[in-house]
This record gives sequence, structure tokens and C-alpha cells, in this order.
Amino acid sequence: MPIVQVRNVSKTFYRDRGPGVRAVNDVSFSIEEGETLALIGESGSGKSTVGRLMLRLIEADDGEIVFDGHDVRRRSPEELRRLRATMQVVFQEPYESLNPRMSIGAIVGEPLEIHERGLSGRQRAARVAEMLDEVGLDPALAGRRPGALSGGQQQRVGIARALITRPRFIVLDEPTSSLDLSVQGQILRLLQDLQKRLKLTYLYISHDLSTVSYIAHRVAVMYLGQIREIGSVDDVVNRPQDPYTRALLNAFLSPDPTVRTRDTYRLSGEIPSPTQVQRGCFLYSRCPSRIEPCASTPADLRQLDPGHEVRCIRAPLSQPLVTVNPELRTFGGPPRPTQKQQA
Ligand SMILES: Nc1ncnc2c1ncn2[C@@H]1O[C@H](COP(=O)(O)OP(=O)(O)OP(=O)(O)O)[C@@H](O)[C@H]1O
Ligand SMILES: [Mg+2]
Repeated sequence: MPIVQVRNVSKTFYRDRGPGVRAVNDVSFSIEEGETLALIGESGSGKSTVGRLMLRLIEADDGEIVFDGHDVRRRSPEELRRLRATMQVVFQEPYESLNPRMSIGAIVGEPLEIHERGLSGRQRAARVAEMLDEVGLDPALAGRRPGALSGGQQQRVGIARALITRPRFIVLDEPTSSLDLSVQGQILRLLQDLQKRLKLTYLYISHDLSTVSYIAHRVAVMYLGQIREIGSVDDVVNRPQDPYTRALLNAFLSPDPTVRTRDTYRLSGEIPSPTQVQRGCFLYSRCPSRIEPCASTPADLRQLDPGHEVRCIRAPLSQPLVTVNPELRTFGGPPRPTQKQQA
């Protein structure tokens, strides 16, 4: 049973004047209870906007967001407040998301003041201590301020704050991308461990494909506000069928000397502005596999195999010539290149 379903959700941001930015364009997917869906794609493709729409931190223009059988978009303010306790978010920059003037104990305990008002100060402190312990922090740190902690410890505080109301669904928006590689591994292992123990469901937003194959069960690839491809990690990472996914993987894999790539699949040109109206396939201007009909035929997601959907009308593409040592796909393998490359 999916715990959360996103159905035909769109969002356009309007600034003062001119055409709006179509940040999310008719996006649909669901996430099963206890599952991690990764959302990947270049900067500006709409990943964070999807996460914020799901939590109703911003309002969608169209579509439905169903959480545990209820349409999030139709909740009254009081129902939404209760729902918020069960849907939480962890952000990329732990330090920026923590108030530097508050103590760690106050930061982690703050959601309880909104969601569990009946608790006494002592009960709240006990819950905070329990939570700090759960995320691998010494409860004695409750009196310290965020500035006294390392980046990894700060992110543990962010996770503790997200978990204290015992949520069931968490949006993880690039939770490790500002951390050192060794610390990234620790935080990912913590998130995985917490998922199993607390039966959490994750939307994991990331650029970093090595962490995606480590933590996620399924992957959705976004480009210009649309999902290009969605399926299991195995389908999407090992047998990518959309030109965009393939170019993205190729750009990520090629700098790594432990990965042999003979795939020369690359996109040309720049990512078009999301204010431009696209007629046919959104990838047309950059796609090495384009054919004439792609310019005018809208590309809709369609199922290639059970659970594997692709937008490209030319899919299945010929098999990519990429071979990766499977042991290196896990985060436990040798360090991955830190250099970030864009497709
Ligand atoms: N509040 C906003 N007002 C106006 N435009 C916005 C707003 N939030 C996002 N956008 C625009 O929507 C598009 C998608 O942004 P979003 O932050 O969702 O991308 P992203 O995939 O998370 O990128 P990144 O990898 O850089 O975090 C971008 O063009 C962005 O400039
Ligand atoms: Mg983002």
C-alpha cells in the first residue's frame, strides 16, 4: 500500500511579471510504506519544489497529494497541523536550518511545543534526550549551541528534530551534500538504520548517484519539472532507458577511474529556461537521440516493464556501454569522486 501518492501535481512560480517558472509539471508517483524513493536531476529541475508541495509548505496549482488516505491539499488548518507531525523534512544545510541562538535541546524539543502541548518541561527534556541518543548524539549536548557542533553532529540534530514527533514520512532534501565524504556515509547509515527501526518512508532528494544506489529502493529522474524516468534502482541505474537519465549517469560516472565507460552519450547545449514553453519533448533541444517527431509530439510517461516508466518515444534505447564493478556501487566502496558534474 502506498503511504503517499502524488497525482498530476503542477506548480508555476510567478515573479512580478512575465511568464511564470513551471517548476513542477504534471508529476505523479507513489511511495510504499517503508520505502525510499530517490528524486534526482540537475539543479533547478524541480526536486525541492516537489518535496515542499508534498508537505504543503507551498501550495500546488493542480493535482492531488494523498497521504495515508487523506488529500493533503484539502486539509483544514487544524488537520494540517496534526498531519505536519507525521510528515517532516531534513534540509541540506544543517547549520542554516538550526537557530544559532537556541540550545540543541530547545531546537530538538521545539516541534513538541506545537504538536504535543500537554507535555511537562521534564517530559519534554526526557523525549529530547531519548531522541538525541537515537540519532547517536550524547544527550549531554542538549545544553550546547549549534555552532559548537561539527557538520555531522548538526545534521544529526536536524534529523532528531524531524523525528521527535514520530513522523512516518520524511523528505530528505540533499541531507548529506554539504558534509565530508566520511561523514556522509555515517549519516546515510543512520538514516537507513532509523528507517528500519521506525518504519519510516523517505523521499530522498539528491544529485549524488552513488548515495542514491546505496539508500534508495526506487529512483525518479526529473528534468524541467517533469519525471523523465522512474523505476527500481536496478532498472534506472543499470538499464537507463531515457536519454536524459543516460546522459546524467554518464556525466556522473565518467570521472571515476574505477568505472569503465564507453558510453559517449551526452546532451548538448544548456538547460532551457523553465519559463520557455516547450511544444514537443522537453529534452528535444539537447537530445542526441532526437528524431523529427520529437519536436512536436509531447512525450508522455509510459510503462516499458512492470514498474519501469520512461518518457522517451524512442525507448528502449540500445544498451549503454557502461560497466561498473557492482561492489563499488555501495557506499562502503572506495571513495567516489567528489567533483560534481552536470549532464
Ligand atoms: N519560491 C520560488 N519562487 C520563484 N521561483 C522558484 C521558487 N522556488 C523554486 N523556484 C524555481 O523553480 C525551479 C525549480 O526549483 P527547485 O528548487 O525545485 O529545483 P531543484 O531541483 O531542487 O534544484 P537544486 O538541485 O538546485 O536544489 C527553478 O527554476 C527555481 O528557480
Ligand atoms: Mg533543491
